[in-house]
Amino acid sequence: MPALPVHGTAGREWNGHALRSLDADTRRRLVRDDRPYHHVMADQLPGAEPAPAADLAGLERAQPPAGADLRPRPLDPAEHGRAGPGAAGRLYRHHHPATRARQQRGLVLRLLGMSAAPLLRQVFGFDAFRPGQEEIVDAVAAGRDVLAIMPTGGGKSLCYQLPALMRDGLTVVISPLIALMRDQVRALTEAGVAAAALTSGNSDEENSEVLRALNARELRLLYMAPERLASGATIPMLRRAGVQAIAVDEAHCVSQWGHDFRPDYLRVGELRRTLSVPLAAFTATADAETREEIVKRLFDGAQPQSFLRGFDRPNIHLAFQPKDGPRRQILDFAAARRGQSGIVYCGTRAKTETLAGALNEAGLAAVAYHGGMEPDQRRKVEARFQREDGLIVVATVAFGMGIDKPDIRWVAHADLPKSIEAYYQEIGRGGRDGAPAETLTLYGPDDIRLRRGQIDEGLAPPERKAADHARLNALLGLAEATACRRVALLRYFGEEAAACGNCDICDNPPECFDATEAAQKVLSAVLRTGQTYGAGHVIDVLTGTMTDRIRQRGHDRLPTFGVGRDMAKPQWQAVIRQMLGRDLIRPDPERHGGLAITAAAHPVLRGEERITLRRDAMTRARPAVVVRTQVDEEDAPLLSALKAKRRALAEAARVPAYVIFPDRTLIEMAQSRPRTLDEMARVNGVGAKKLESYGEEFLRVIAGEVAPMHPARRALAGRASGDLFDRLAEAQARLMRGEDGTEKPLSVSNSALRRIAEDRPRDLARYLDAARLDRFGAAFAAEIAADPEG
Ligand SMILES: Nc1ncnc2c1ncn2[C@@H]1O[C@H](COP(=O)(O)OP(=O)(O)OP(=O)(O)O)[C@@H](O)[C@H]1O
Ligand SMILES: [Mg+2]
Ligand SMILES: [Zn+2]
Repeated sequence: MPALPVHGTAGREWNGHALRSLDADTRRRLVRDDRPYHHVMADQLPGAEPAPAADLAGLERAQPPAGADLRPRPLDPAEHGRAGPGAAGRLYRHHHPATRARQQRGLVLRLLGMSAAPLLRQVFGFDAFRPGQEEIVDAVAAGRDVLAIMPTGGGKSLCYQLPALMRDGLTVVISPLIALMRDQVRALTEAGVAAAALTSGNSDEENSEVLRALNARELRLLYMAPERLASGATIPMLRRAGVQAIAVDEAHCVSQWGHDFRPDYLRVGELRRTLSVPLAAFTATADAETREEIVKRLFDGAQPQSFLRGFDRPNIHLAFQPKDGPRRQILDFAAARRGQSGIVYCGTRAKTETLAGALNEAGLAAVAYHGGMEPDQRRKVEARFQREDGLIVVATVAFGMGIDKPDIRWVAHADLPKSIEAYYQEIGRGGRDGAPAETLTLYGPDDIRLRRGQIDEGLAPPERKAADHARLNALLGLAEATACRRVALLRYFGEEAAACGNCDICDNPPECFDATEAAQKVLSAVLRTGQTYGAGHVIDVLTGTMTDRIRQRGHDRLPTFGVGRDMAKPQWQAVIRQMLGRDLIRPDPERHGGLAITAAAHPVLRGEERITLRRDAMTRARPAVVVRTQVDEEDAPLLSALKAKRRALAEAARVPAYVIFPDRTLIEMAQSRPRTLDEMARVNGVGAKKLESYGEEFLRVIAGEVAPMHPARRALAGRASGDLFDRLAEAQARLMRGEDGTEKPLSVSNSALRRIAEDRPRDLARYLDAARLDRFGAAFAAEIAADPEG
């Protein structure tokens, strides 16, 4: 990927002048021969006093008021996606001070009519397409009808946003959730793209601003909820606005059989027919029925060009643990990831509050979230989570729909999720930026009993209940897997894969043993006690433990009494849990949850089938807490300084931190330590607009970190070792990219430099790791040798 051709310094306007200053070669590379210059971000109006609400048709006639403050207002989650046709729209507007100043000067950010790859770099700041994106972008940009199925977090949005910038005119995006639209418009605006949303329950001045921008043909992307299509005024308005393409996000909402059915999605087909422009539909739901329905409803049955991307999310680490002091397990997991954003899912509302309290007591910032909270409280939590770095939300499954925070670093389940689909959707909220994310799912016999009970006590017909039990079995099979979890997970979605190397089982292959005899003992004890008792009593029988109940029922006279003395109670618990997971035994709702054997157990009882269980799940050893950091120790102080700067900027602009820069980008900055805007532009995630808005500020932070007055250096001020420190720092800056300046950037922390300057060691090996010893060792040794004090 060529470097972004930035010649100027901060403050330069990205207008026609900037373009003309590009060298001829770059211009040739960027300009597609058949395209003129065009606006990427057209500029926007000064604002106005709010005017009384009016419906959309009224607004179309309204003149744009002058001087409106178009900042987003907080939203009620209750209105998400429930837009009424008469409701007014809302325009989300970027209002970073720098942008506002530029708006007032009436300047226009122009880029060239560019092809996909440079736009990806320039506007979105990404170095490469994710798997599958490029083919889809090409097809959409070529004006084909497209159906693209990609997993959650796979990067579908880009597949319509980028083509929208490659073509002239407007792309209208149908999207089901206000929160999604809001986030996307905000991110696009931040990247310098003219985008807006018409959504429900909004002020009319925002609407009139959208309509003005539409009439002036300034917008490149317009988001709207499907409900808006119910208004007769909408389609004519879109026709007048010169819509060139339609994108349908979450296209499975058109399926009547799916759980997300939104009747107004059915109107999209009519929109396509009336406008007769190409349509691209996106979803993460891959099953054949849904696909067929999308083709029928959105494309009138004409087969679009289809793309089916795999379901794998390789950056997400998968792990399950049997519950063993679950609160401690969650606290340890969270504490090891201090400072990183995470979600803990809980089975009950009450638990979200107690666990959030426990996390706070442990010094971790956590808030509870559940459906029983007041809407404005929930909204506050959502906003804080989007905005703050390293906040933990402890939530029921009510949390997550519409959360598009790309830098969630971990997701933990304090209780077993409902199904594999739910599990994958919930952990899929982690690591959407493609950087590593970790997960931990806890489960125990109580979860199994609860989930089975929910199915049995539900009102579904028997076939449906059987199917639900089978689905639960699949999840339990994943929890009790003895080989790579990802293989099991992807197989469930119909994909074959090789062992992943990124799950707890690949990390530590479990020791298994032939548990046929142990299982037979359990089954026998269950049968002989009449299939009416829970695990505790069954274990008492197996281990020959004399209790009142055993005595009362005469169970000490059973032939199975004491046949399992060879194993301790926790081991029997693990066997029973794994047998529950294999659905060999099941809590029976007719008998108050007493364990009953299933048909699957018969061959085991008869000795026709052998069964293998995990041994390690039976030992109670708790895994050591390993603290995960995002960068080497040397880069950590700079990374936190960069994060602090990002937090300040985000707060000033009232946007979430990742909208300024994602973690990944700050990490790269901390590691490569750019010194000029040119170098900064090479950092992945720094597009032209962000370079202009923030480049200098972050450069200052980076420069500050290596400046003489770093605290480590300050400690040496006025001492001879301070001089050596400076020369070491100089040597490390010179060699940062190796002798010839082409190698992977490496740096040495100021605190390490200080230790070296003070100790003047002969042997640097105790101060530098192998890579740094190799890079800096000789130069440092020379500086130490040349030091008069030494
Ligand atoms: N080529 C890329 N390089 C790096 N990051 C990318 C790239 N494409 C997309 N992303 C990032 O990946 C994240 C997920 O993208 P997006 O929201 O489009 O996913 P999605 O497929 O729509 O998922 P969902 O089904 O949950 O809506 C976003 O943070 C986005 O910025
Ligand atoms: Mg999406
Ligand atoms: Zn694996």
